[in-house]
Amino acid sequence: MTATADYTEKIPNNVNLHEDRRLQRALESWQPNFLNWWESMGPRLPTEDVYLRTAVNVGRDGWAQFGHVAMRDYRWGIFLAEREQDRFIGFGQHKGEPAWQKVPGEYRADLQRLIVVQGDTEPASVEQQRNLGATAPSLYDLRNLFQVNVEEGRHLWAMVYLLHAYFGREGREEAEELLHRNSGSEDAPRILGAFNEETPDWLSFFMFTYFTDRDGKYQLGTLKESAFDPLSRTCEFMLKEEAHHMMVGTTGVDRVIERTAQVMVEQDTDDVGGAGVVPLDVIQRYLNFHYSVSLDLFGGETSTNVANYYTAGLKGRWMEDRRKDDHKLTDDAYLVDSLEDGQIAQAEVPALVGLNTDLRREYIADCHGGLKRWNKILEGAGLGQRLYLPHVAFNRKVGAFAAIEVTPDGQLLSAAEWEQRKGDYLPTDVDKAHVRSLMHPVYERGKIASWIAPPRNGINGKPFDYDYVHLS
Ligand SMILES: [Fe+2]
Ligand SMILES: [Fe+2]
Repeated sequence: MTATADYTEKIPNNVNLHEDRRLQRALESWQPNFLNWWESMGPRLPTEDVYLRTAVNVGRDGWAQFGHVAMRDYRWGIFLAEREQDRFIGFGQHKGEPAWQKVPGEYRADLQRLIVVQGDTEPASVEQQRNLGATAPSLYDLRNLFQVNVEEGRHLWAMVYLLHAYFGREGREEAEELLHRNSGSEDAPRILGAFNEETPDWLSFFMFTYFTDRDGKYQLGTLKESAFDPLSRTCEFMLKEEAHHMMVGTTGVDRVIERTAQVMVEQDTDDVGGAGVVPLDVIQRYLNFHYSVSLDLFGGETSTNVANYYTAGLKGRWMEDRRKDDHKLTDDAYLVDSLEDGQIAQAEVPALVGLNTDLRREYIADCHGGLKRWNKILEGAGLGQRLYLPHVAFNRKVGAFAAIEVTPDGQLLSAAEWEQRKGDYLPTDVDKAHVRSLMHPVYERGKIASWIAPPRNGINGKPFDYDYVHLS
Protein backbone atom coordinates (compact mmCIF):
# COMPACT_ATOMS: atom_id res chain seq x y z
CA MET A 1 0.00 0.00 0.00
CA THR A 2 1.07 3.56 -0.50
CA ALA A 3 1.40 5.85 2.44
CA THR A 4 -0.46 9.14 2.30
CA ALA A 5 1.50 12.13 1.13
CA ASP A 6 4.10 13.43 3.51
CA TYR A 7 4.18 17.22 3.25
CA THR A 8 6.61 17.78 6.08
CA GLU A 9 9.41 16.62 3.80
CA LYS A 10 11.33 18.68 1.30
CA ILE A 11 9.90 16.57 -1.49
CA PRO A 12 6.25 15.67 -0.87
CA ASN A 13 5.74 12.01 -1.72
CA ASN A 14 3.74 8.90 -1.09
CA VAL A 15 6.61 6.51 -1.78
CA ASN A 16 8.18 6.50 1.70
CA LEU A 17 11.14 8.44 0.42
CA HIS A 18 12.53 8.90 3.97
CA GLU A 19 13.17 5.15 4.15
CA ASP A 20 15.77 5.37 1.39
CA ARG A 21 18.26 8.05 2.40
CA ARG A 22 20.43 7.64 -0.67
CA LEU A 23 17.56 8.11 -3.06
CA GLN A 24 16.22 10.98 -1.00
CA ARG A 25 19.59 12.75 -1.07
CA ALA A 26 19.94 12.19 -4.82
CA LEU A 27 16.52 13.68 -5.51
CA GLU A 28 17.16 16.54 -3.09
CA SER A 29 20.27 17.40 -5.03
CA TRP A 30 18.30 17.35 -8.31
CA GLN A 31 15.64 19.64 -6.79
CA PRO A 32 17.63 22.93 -7.00
CA ASN A 33 18.46 22.16 -10.62
CA PHE A 34 14.78 21.70 -11.31
CA LEU A 35 13.99 25.01 -9.61
CA ASN A 36 16.68 26.76 -11.64
CA TRP A 37 15.16 25.31 -14.78
CA TRP A 38 11.69 26.47 -13.70
CA GLU A 39 13.01 29.99 -13.04
CA SER A 40 14.85 30.27 -16.33
CA MET A 41 12.61 28.23 -18.68
CA GLY A 42 9.21 28.26 -16.95
CA PRO A 43 6.44 30.91 -17.10
CA ARG A 44 7.85 34.35 -17.80
CA LEU A 45 5.06 36.53 -16.46
CA PRO A 46 5.85 37.61 -12.89
CA THR A 47 3.11 36.64 -10.46
CA GLU A 48 2.59 36.91 -6.74
CA ASP A 49 0.38 33.88 -6.45
CA VAL A 50 -1.97 31.68 -8.43
CA TYR A 51 -5.07 29.69 -7.45
CA LEU A 52 -3.65 26.24 -8.05
CA ARG A 53 -4.54 22.65 -7.47
CA THR A 54 -1.86 20.66 -5.67
CA ALA A 55 -1.91 16.88 -5.53
CA VAL A 56 -1.91 15.78 -1.91
CA ASN A 57 -3.05 12.19 -2.11
CA VAL A 58 -3.97 9.58 -4.65
CA GLY A 59 -7.14 8.13 -3.12
CA ARG A 60 -10.61 8.27 -4.56
CA ASP A 61 -11.95 10.70 -1.96
CA GLY A 62 -10.23 13.97 -2.80
CA TRP A 63 -6.70 13.88 -4.09
CA ALA A 64 -6.02 17.58 -4.54
CA GLN A 65 -6.37 20.80 -2.65
CA PHE A 66 -6.86 24.29 -4.09
CA GLY A 67 -5.38 27.54 -2.86
CA HIS A 68 -3.39 30.62 -3.80
CA VAL A 69 0.29 29.72 -3.92
CA ALA A 70 3.43 31.40 -5.18
CA MET A 71 4.45 29.26 -8.15
CA ARG A 72 8.05 28.91 -7.08
CA ASP A 73 6.81 27.40 -3.82
CA TYR A 74 4.53 24.92 -5.56
CA ARG A 75 4.86 21.55 -3.87
CA TRP A 76 6.00 19.41 -6.77
CA GLY A 77 5.85 15.91 -5.42
CA ILE A 78 6.12 12.23 -6.22
CA PHE A 79 2.85 10.37 -6.33
CA LEU A 80 2.12 6.88 -7.49
CA ALA A 81 -1.37 5.44 -7.66
CA GLU A 82 -2.04 2.91 -4.92
CA ARG A 83 -0.45 -0.45 -5.35
CA GLU A 84 -2.81 -3.16 -6.39
CA GLN A 85 -2.02 -6.30 -4.38
CA ASP A 86 -1.17 -9.26 -6.59
CA ARG A 87 -1.21 -7.36 -9.85
CA PHE A 88 -0.47 -9.64 -12.79
CA ILE A 89 0.96 -8.80 -16.18
CA GLY A 90 -1.89 -8.46 -18.64
CA PHE A 91 -0.27 -9.07 -22.03
CA GLY A 92 2.77 -10.27 -23.94
CA GLN A 93 4.95 -13.28 -23.29
CA HIS A 94 4.89 -12.74 -19.50
CA LYS A 95 1.10 -12.55 -19.34
CA GLY A 96 -0.17 -13.98 -16.07
CA GLU A 97 3.14 -13.57 -14.20
CA PRO A 98 3.31 -11.18 -11.25
CA ALA A 99 4.02 -7.55 -12.19
CA TRP A 100 7.64 -6.48 -11.69
CA GLN A 101 8.61 -4.34 -8.73
CA LYS A 102 12.21 -4.12 -10.01
CA VAL A 103 13.55 -3.62 -13.53
CA PRO A 104 14.51 -6.94 -15.17
CA GLY A 105 18.06 -6.70 -16.51
CA GLU A 106 17.16 -7.67 -20.07
CA TYR A 107 14.62 -4.83 -20.38
CA ARG A 108 16.56 -2.16 -18.57
CA ALA A 109 17.71 -0.19 -21.62
CA ASP A 110 14.30 -0.26 -23.30
CA LEU A 111 12.41 0.78 -20.17
CA GLN A 112 14.84 3.58 -19.50
CA ARG A 113 14.39 4.84 -23.05
CA LEU A 114 10.59 4.79 -22.79
CA ILE A 115 10.73 6.77 -19.55
CA VAL A 116 13.21 9.30 -20.94
CA VAL A 117 11.12 9.94 -24.07
CA GLN A 118 7.97 10.42 -22.01
CA GLY A 119 9.84 12.54 -19.46
CA ASP A 120 11.28 14.77 -22.16
CA THR A 121 7.85 15.93 -23.35
CA GLU A 122 6.78 17.18 -19.91
CA PRO A 123 9.20 20.11 -19.42
CA ALA A 124 9.18 20.70 -23.19
CA SER A 125 5.59 21.90 -23.16
CA VAL A 126 6.33 24.27 -20.27
CA GLU A 127 9.13 25.77 -22.36
CA GLN A 128 6.90 26.06 -25.43
CA GLN A 129 4.26 27.93 -23.42
CA ARG A 130 6.46 30.20 -21.36
CA ASN A 131 5.54 33.47 -23.08
CA LEU A 132 1.78 32.98 -23.19
CA GLY A 133 1.15 34.71 -19.87
CA ALA A 134 1.90 38.04 -21.55
CA THR A 135 -1.22 37.71 -23.71
CA ALA A 136 -3.71 35.80 -21.55
CA PRO A 137 -7.34 36.49 -22.52
CA SER A 138 -8.49 36.40 -18.87
CA LEU A 139 -7.28 35.63 -15.36
CA TYR A 140 -9.20 32.37 -15.56
CA ASP A 141 -7.25 31.31 -18.66
CA LEU A 142 -4.00 32.52 -17.15
CA ARG A 143 -4.61 30.33 -14.13
CA ASN A 144 -5.34 27.31 -16.31
CA LEU A 145 -2.13 27.84 -18.25
CA PHE A 146 -0.13 27.91 -15.03
CA GLN A 147 -1.97 24.86 -13.69
CA VAL A 148 -1.02 22.91 -16.79
CA ASN A 149 2.56 24.19 -16.47
CA VAL A 150 3.06 23.20 -12.83
CA GLU A 151 1.55 19.79 -13.48
CA GLU A 152 3.80 19.15 -16.47
CA GLY A 153 6.60 20.07 -14.06
CA ARG A 154 5.26 17.46 -11.66
CA HIS A 155 5.15 14.90 -14.45
CA LEU A 156 8.82 15.56 -14.98
CA TRP A 157 9.31 14.80 -11.28
CA ALA A 158 7.38 11.58 -11.75
CA MET A 159 9.72 10.37 -14.51
CA VAL A 160 12.83 11.60 -12.71
CA TYR A 161 11.80 9.66 -9.63
CA LEU A 162 11.67 6.46 -11.69
CA LEU A 163 15.06 7.19 -13.26
CA HIS A 164 16.67 7.85 -9.90
CA ALA A 165 15.00 5.03 -8.03
CA TYR A 166 15.42 2.23 -10.57
CA PHE A 167 18.14 3.06 -13.11
CA GLY A 168 21.22 3.88 -11.06
CA ARG A 169 23.90 6.23 -12.31
CA GLU A 170 22.65 6.20 -15.89
CA GLY A 171 19.20 7.11 -14.67
CA ARG A 172 20.61 10.07 -12.72
CA GLU A 173 22.50 11.25 -15.79
CA GLU A 174 19.35 11.04 -17.90
CA ALA A 175 17.52 13.06 -15.25
CA GLU A 176 20.11 15.82 -15.66
CA GLU A 177 19.75 15.70 -19.44
CA LEU A 178 16.00 16.25 -19.13
CA LEU A 179 16.82 19.73 -17.82
CA HIS A 180 19.57 20.41 -20.36
CA ARG A 181 17.63 19.75 -23.54
CA ASN A 182 15.29 22.62 -24.41
CA SER A 183 12.39 23.06 -26.78
CA GLY A 184 13.56 24.52 -30.09
CA SER A 185 17.23 24.56 -29.07
CA GLU A 186 19.75 24.24 -31.90
CA ASP A 187 22.32 22.24 -29.95
CA ALA A 188 20.12 20.19 -27.65
CA PRO A 189 16.51 20.09 -28.84
CA ARG A 190 13.73 18.05 -27.25
CA ILE A 191 13.48 14.49 -28.54
CA LEU A 192 10.16 14.66 -30.42
CA GLY A 193 9.44 17.07 -33.27
CA ALA A 194 6.10 18.49 -32.09
CA PHE A 195 7.78 19.53 -28.84
CA ASN A 196 10.19 21.81 -30.63
CA GLU A 197 7.39 23.81 -32.31
CA GLU A 198 6.60 27.11 -30.67
CA THR A 199 3.27 27.85 -29.03
CA PRO A 200 3.11 31.52 -30.00
CA ASP A 201 -0.54 32.34 -29.30
CA TRP A 202 -3.54 31.10 -27.33
CA LEU A 203 -5.30 29.48 -30.25
CA SER A 204 -2.16 27.36 -30.67
CA PHE A 205 -2.18 26.67 -26.93
CA PHE A 206 -5.76 25.39 -26.98
CA MET A 207 -5.07 23.31 -30.11
CA PHE A 208 -1.91 21.97 -28.47
CA THR A 209 -3.71 20.97 -25.28
CA TYR A 210 -6.48 19.38 -27.32
CA PHE A 211 -4.40 17.50 -29.90
CA THR A 212 -0.84 17.15 -28.60
CA ASP A 213 -1.56 16.71 -24.90
CA ARG A 214 -4.09 14.09 -26.00
CA ASP A 215 -1.28 12.16 -27.64
CA GLY A 216 0.33 12.23 -24.18
CA LYS A 217 -2.82 10.78 -22.71
CA TYR A 218 -2.63 7.84 -25.11
CA GLN A 219 1.07 7.25 -24.50
CA LEU A 220 0.49 7.27 -20.74
CA GLY A 221 -2.42 4.89 -21.29
CA THR A 222 -0.08 2.33 -22.89
CA LEU A 223 2.57 2.76 -20.17
CA LYS A 224 -0.10 2.38 -17.49
CA GLU A 225 -0.41 -1.23 -18.71
CA SER A 226 3.31 -1.85 -18.19
CA ALA A 227 4.53 -4.95 -16.40
CA PHE A 228 6.94 -2.64 -14.54
CA ASP A 229 4.58 -1.76 -11.72
CA PRO A 230 6.11 1.57 -10.53
CA LEU A 231 5.82 2.90 -14.10
CA SER A 232 2.25 1.69 -14.36
CA ARG A 233 1.26 3.35 -11.08
CA THR A 234 3.04 6.60 -11.92
CA CYS A 235 1.23 6.86 -15.25
CA GLU A 236 -2.11 6.04 -13.74
CA PHE A 237 -1.85 9.03 -11.45
CA MET A 238 -0.54 11.31 -14.20
CA LEU A 239 -3.60 10.44 -16.28
CA LYS A 240 -5.76 11.80 -13.49
CA GLU A 241 -4.04 15.18 -13.80
CA GLU A 242 -4.17 15.06 -17.62
CA ALA A 243 -7.98 15.17 -17.53
CA HIS A 244 -7.77 18.87 -16.64
CA HIS A 245 -5.34 19.55 -19.49
CA MET A 246 -7.79 17.92 -21.91
CA MET A 247 -10.57 20.09 -20.49
CA VAL A 248 -8.52 23.25 -21.04
CA GLY A 249 -8.01 22.34 -24.71
CA THR A 250 -11.52 21.16 -25.43
CA THR A 251 -13.33 24.08 -23.83
CA GLY A 252 -10.71 26.55 -25.06
CA VAL A 253 -11.43 25.65 -28.68
CA ASP A 254 -15.19 25.58 -27.84
CA ARG A 255 -15.01 29.16 -26.65
CA VAL A 256 -13.05 30.45 -29.64
CA ILE A 257 -15.59 28.88 -32.00
CA GLU A 258 -18.51 30.11 -29.95
CA ARG A 259 -17.29 33.69 -30.14
CA THR A 260 -16.51 33.50 -33.86
CA ALA A 261 -19.95 32.00 -34.56
CA GLN A 262 -21.58 34.80 -32.58
CA VAL A 263 -19.91 37.48 -34.68
CA MET A 264 -20.59 35.59 -37.93
CA VAL A 265 -24.29 35.57 -37.10
CA GLU A 266 -24.35 39.20 -35.94
CA GLN A 267 -22.62 40.44 -39.07
CA ASP A 268 -24.05 37.80 -41.41
CA THR A 269 -20.66 37.04 -43.00
CA ASP A 270 -17.74 34.58 -42.85
CA ASP A 271 -15.36 37.45 -43.20
CA VAL A 272 -15.00 38.34 -39.54
CA GLY A 273 -11.23 38.89 -39.34
CA GLY A 274 -11.74 42.63 -39.11
CA ALA A 275 -14.21 42.22 -36.25
CA GLY A 276 -11.65 41.12 -33.66
CA VAL A 277 -12.22 37.35 -33.84
CA VAL A 278 -10.57 34.36 -35.55
CA PRO A 279 -12.30 33.45 -38.86
CA LEU A 280 -13.47 29.86 -39.14
CA ASP A 281 -11.12 29.02 -42.02
CA VAL A 282 -8.16 30.11 -39.88
CA ILE A 283 -9.39 27.91 -37.03
CA GLN A 284 -9.58 25.02 -39.52
CA ARG A 285 -5.99 25.61 -40.67
CA TYR A 286 -4.72 25.69 -37.08
CA LEU A 287 -6.61 22.48 -36.44
CA ASN A 288 -5.11 20.86 -39.56
CA PHE A 289 -1.62 21.74 -38.39
CA HIS A 290 -1.89 20.60 -34.78
CA TYR A 291 -3.75 17.42 -35.66
CA SER A 292 -1.27 16.34 -38.32
CA VAL A 293 1.86 17.00 -36.24
CA SER A 294 0.24 15.12 -33.37
CA LEU A 295 -0.46 12.11 -35.62
CA ASP A 296 3.27 11.98 -36.31
CA LEU A 297 3.94 11.49 -32.59
CA PHE A 298 2.55 7.96 -32.83
CA GLY A 299 5.43 6.96 -35.10
CA GLY A 300 5.48 4.87 -38.26
CA GLU A 301 2.55 2.60 -39.23
CA THR A 302 4.65 -0.43 -38.43
CA SER A 303 7.35 -0.82 -35.82
CA THR A 304 9.31 -3.84 -34.70
CA ASN A 305 10.50 -1.91 -31.62
CA VAL A 306 6.94 -1.45 -30.46
CA ALA A 307 6.19 -5.11 -31.22
CA ASN A 308 9.11 -6.04 -28.97
CA TYR A 309 7.96 -3.66 -26.22
CA TYR A 310 4.55 -5.30 -26.31
CA THR A 311 5.83 -8.85 -26.28
CA ALA A 312 8.19 -8.01 -23.42
CA GLY A 313 5.34 -6.43 -21.42
CA LEU A 314 6.84 -2.93 -21.32
CA LYS A 315 4.04 -1.10 -23.12
CA GLY A 316 0.51 -2.34 -23.75
CA ARG A 317 -2.42 -1.18 -25.83
CA TRP A 318 -4.95 1.49 -24.98
CA MET A 319 -7.49 -0.16 -22.66
CA GLU A 320 -5.65 -3.46 -22.86
CA ASP A 321 -7.97 -5.23 -20.45
CA ARG A 322 -11.03 -4.41 -22.53
CA ARG A 323 -9.63 -6.07 -25.65
CA LYS A 324 -11.24 -9.37 -26.47
CA ASP A 325 -8.27 -11.35 -27.79
CA ASP A 326 -5.44 -13.41 -26.34
CA HIS A 327 -3.33 -10.34 -25.38
CA LYS A 328 -0.33 -11.93 -27.06
CA LEU A 329 -1.24 -11.28 -30.70
CA THR A 330 1.36 -13.68 -32.05
CA ASP A 331 -1.06 -15.20 -34.59
CA ASP A 332 -3.09 -12.07 -35.44
CA ALA A 333 -2.96 -9.79 -38.43
CA TYR A 334 -3.80 -6.13 -38.71
CA LEU A 335 -4.54 -3.75 -41.58
CA VAL A 336 -2.36 -0.64 -41.53
CA ASP A 337 -2.19 2.44 -43.75
CA SER A 338 0.41 2.14 -46.44
CA LEU A 339 1.64 3.55 -49.69
CA GLU A 340 1.48 1.22 -52.72
CA ASP A 341 2.97 2.61 -55.93
CA GLY A 342 2.51 6.12 -54.63
CA GLN A 343 -1.19 5.52 -53.83
CA ILE A 344 -2.82 5.50 -50.39
CA ALA A 345 -3.64 1.90 -49.53
CA GLN A 346 -3.89 -0.64 -46.72
CA ALA A 347 -1.52 -3.48 -46.04
CA GLU A 348 -1.92 -6.56 -43.87
CA VAL A 349 0.87 -6.97 -41.32
CA PRO A 350 1.37 -9.09 -38.19
CA ALA A 351 -0.72 -7.41 -35.47
CA LEU A 352 2.29 -6.90 -33.20
CA VAL A 353 4.05 -4.83 -35.82
CA GLY A 354 0.96 -2.66 -36.38
CA LEU A 355 0.50 -1.48 -32.79
CA ASN A 356 1.41 2.14 -33.56
CA THR A 357 -1.45 2.21 -36.04
CA ASP A 358 -3.77 0.70 -33.47
CA LEU A 359 -2.95 3.44 -30.96
CA ARG A 360 -3.17 6.19 -33.59
CA ARG A 361 -6.64 4.96 -34.57
CA GLU A 362 -7.82 5.03 -30.96
CA TYR A 363 -6.56 8.59 -30.78
CA ILE A 364 -8.25 9.60 -34.04
CA ALA A 365 -11.58 8.19 -32.82
CA ASP A 366 -11.20 10.31 -29.69
CA CYS A 367 -10.44 13.45 -31.73
CA HIS A 368 -13.68 12.99 -33.66
CA GLY A 369 -15.39 13.71 -30.33
CA GLY A 370 -13.96 17.23 -30.34
CA LEU A 371 -15.09 17.88 -33.88
CA LYS A 372 -18.59 16.71 -33.02
CA ARG A 373 -18.93 19.15 -30.15
CA TRP A 374 -17.41 22.04 -32.10
CA ASN A 375 -19.79 21.44 -34.99
CA LYS A 376 -22.67 21.39 -32.53
CA ILE A 377 -21.69 24.90 -31.50
CA LEU A 378 -21.84 26.01 -35.14
CA GLU A 379 -25.14 24.22 -35.62
CA GLY A 380 -26.54 25.77 -32.45
CA ALA A 381 -25.65 29.21 -33.77
CA GLY A 382 -27.65 28.44 -36.91
CA LEU A 383 -24.59 28.27 -39.15
CA GLY A 384 -24.15 25.76 -42.01
CA GLN A 385 -20.31 25.71 -41.91
CA ARG A 386 -18.58 22.70 -40.35
CA LEU A 387 -15.06 21.88 -39.16
CA TYR A 388 -13.46 18.52 -39.98
CA LEU A 389 -10.41 16.38 -39.24
CA PRO A 390 -8.04 16.22 -42.21
CA HIS A 391 -7.13 12.89 -43.84
CA VAL A 392 -4.60 10.73 -41.99
CA ALA A 393 -2.10 11.22 -44.85
CA PHE A 394 -2.31 15.01 -44.72
CA ASN A 395 0.90 16.92 -43.86
CA ARG A 396 2.67 13.90 -42.41
CA LYS A 397 6.41 13.92 -41.79
CA VAL A 398 6.63 10.49 -40.21
CA GLY A 399 5.59 7.11 -41.60
CA ALA A 400 4.25 5.87 -44.92
CA PHE A 401 2.73 9.19 -45.96
CA ALA A 402 5.80 11.34 -45.35
CA ALA A 403 6.68 10.76 -49.00
CA ILE A 404 3.47 12.20 -50.45
CA GLU A 405 1.32 15.32 -50.23
CA VAL A 406 -2.46 15.21 -50.11
CA THR A 407 -5.33 17.63 -49.63
CA PRO A 408 -7.21 17.54 -46.31
CA ASP A 409 -9.73 15.19 -47.96
CA GLY A 410 -7.01 12.83 -49.15
CA GLN A 411 -6.54 13.71 -52.83
CA LEU A 412 -2.95 13.25 -53.99
CA LEU A 413 -1.06 16.41 -54.94
CA SER A 414 2.18 16.85 -56.83
CA ALA A 415 4.95 18.71 -55.01
CA ALA A 416 4.24 21.78 -57.14
CA GLU A 417 0.50 21.66 -56.44
CA TRP A 418 1.20 21.30 -52.73
CA GLU A 419 3.49 24.35 -52.72
CA GLN A 420 0.83 26.32 -54.50
CA ARG A 421 -2.08 25.25 -52.32
CA LYS A 422 -0.68 24.59 -48.86
CA GLY A 423 -1.66 28.09 -47.76
CA ASP A 424 -5.28 26.96 -48.12
CA TYR A 425 -4.67 24.13 -45.68
CA LEU A 426 -2.06 25.22 -43.15
CA PRO A 427 -1.78 28.50 -41.20
CA THR A 428 -0.19 31.19 -43.34
CA ASP A 429 1.97 34.06 -42.12
CA VAL A 430 -1.07 36.28 -42.59
CA ASP A 431 -3.20 33.96 -40.42
CA LYS A 432 -0.57 33.88 -37.70
CA ALA A 433 -0.12 37.64 -37.79
CA HIS A 434 -3.89 38.10 -37.51
CA VAL A 435 -4.16 35.73 -34.54
CA ARG A 436 -1.22 37.44 -32.89
CA SER A 437 -2.80 40.84 -33.43
CA LEU A 438 -5.76 39.69 -31.30
CA MET A 439 -3.57 38.62 -28.41
CA HIS A 440 -3.88 41.47 -25.93
CA PRO A 441 -3.70 40.57 -22.27
CA VAL A 442 -6.80 41.02 -20.14
CA TYR A 443 -5.84 40.91 -16.48
CA GLU A 444 -8.92 42.54 -15.00
CA ARG A 445 -11.15 40.29 -12.88
CA GLY A 446 -14.27 39.14 -14.74
CA LYS A 447 -13.17 40.63 -18.08
CA ILE A 448 -12.30 38.72 -21.22
CA ALA A 449 -10.64 39.35 -24.59
CA SER A 450 -12.80 40.01 -27.66
CA TRP A 451 -11.89 36.85 -29.58
CA ILE A 452 -13.07 34.26 -27.06
CA ALA A 453 -16.28 33.55 -25.12
CA PRO A 454 -16.15 33.30 -21.31
CA PRO A 455 -16.18 29.77 -19.82
CA ARG A 456 -19.43 28.24 -18.61
CA ASN A 457 -17.88 27.33 -15.27
CA GLY A 458 -15.03 28.60 -13.15
CA ILE A 459 -12.49 26.44 -11.34
CA ASN A 460 -13.36 24.41 -8.26
CA GLY A 461 -16.81 26.01 -7.97
CA LYS A 462 -15.40 29.55 -8.08
CA PRO A 463 -17.02 32.10 -10.42
CA PHE A 464 -15.39 33.34 -13.62
CA ASP A 465 -14.63 36.70 -11.99
CA TYR A 466 -12.70 35.13 -9.10
CA ASP A 467 -9.19 36.50 -8.44
CA TYR A 468 -7.45 33.44 -9.88
CA VAL A 469 -4.10 35.17 -10.29
CA HIS A 470 -2.37 38.01 -8.47
CA LEU A 471 0.22 39.60 -10.72
CA SER A 472 3.28 41.13 -9.14
FE1 LIG B 1 2.12 15.61 -18.71
FE1 LIG C 1 -0.59 17.37 -20.03
